[in-house]
Amino acid sequence: MPLKIDVLTLFPRMLDGFLAESILGKGIAAGRLGVTVHDLRGWTTDKHRTADDRPFGGGAGMVMKPEPVFAAIEQLQTPGCRRIYLTPDGVPFSMPLAKELSEQQHLVILSGHYEGIDQRIRERIIDQEISIGDYVLTNGTLAAAVVIDALARFIPGVLGEEKSLTHESFTSKLLDFPQYTRPAEFRGMSVPEVLLSGNHAEIEKWRHARQVEKTRQVRPDLLT
Ligand code: ADE
Repeated sequence: MPLKIDVLTLFPRMLDGFLAESILGKGIAAGRLGVTVHDLRGWTTDKHRTADDRPFGGGAGMVMKPEPVFAAIEQLQTPGCRRIYLTPDGVPFSMPLAKELSEQQHLVILSGHYEGIDQRIRERIIDQEISIGDYVLTNGTLAAAVVIDALARFIPGVLGEEKSLTHESFTSKLLDFPQYTRPAEFRGMSVPEVLLSGNHAEIEKWRHARQVEKTRQVRPDLLT
């Protein structure tokens, strides 16, 4: 059974283009994974379709109400599914986590909005809180897109070439080596000689050296 993902958001149209395009869109069209986007307002019950309210205790901003979120998740969840809330104060997203998520059967992903969501949601019907980085987005919908895109690459058949996964940044804890394609000479800039040599051992050595150099320059933390 392909991985099934339900996304809950107040901005469902933000994901339209993302899901239709590119490698991910092809993966979905080929049935490698199924993604359904739901408008949280569909589970509101008042005529204004209210999904948020002022915080108890005061303070700026609005807080997502528990009722529609509980109703939505209770309707969509299945036994053993993982219920994820995207938030800047969650655990950092990473390649190992992307891989782990890609191996699940069913994910329900809640995108937060405004200043936050009622704490009772987080305590009662969320299994895991994930942050895609140390910055704050206006809402979690783009974060959901990031998580889905990264995990989809681990699903067999989504990427054309299996090889492209094993050689890339973060799988090896080293950043990527530089890539070149034709022409060999462009505006006076030439491709490193070794890449044209056909000597695969030398090419591997050169690439590894560039990876170490690049990682030392921009992400020394990965080398420790
Ligand atoms: N929502 C807003 N900012 C976010 C972030 N950095 N990661 C996940 N969800 C978010």
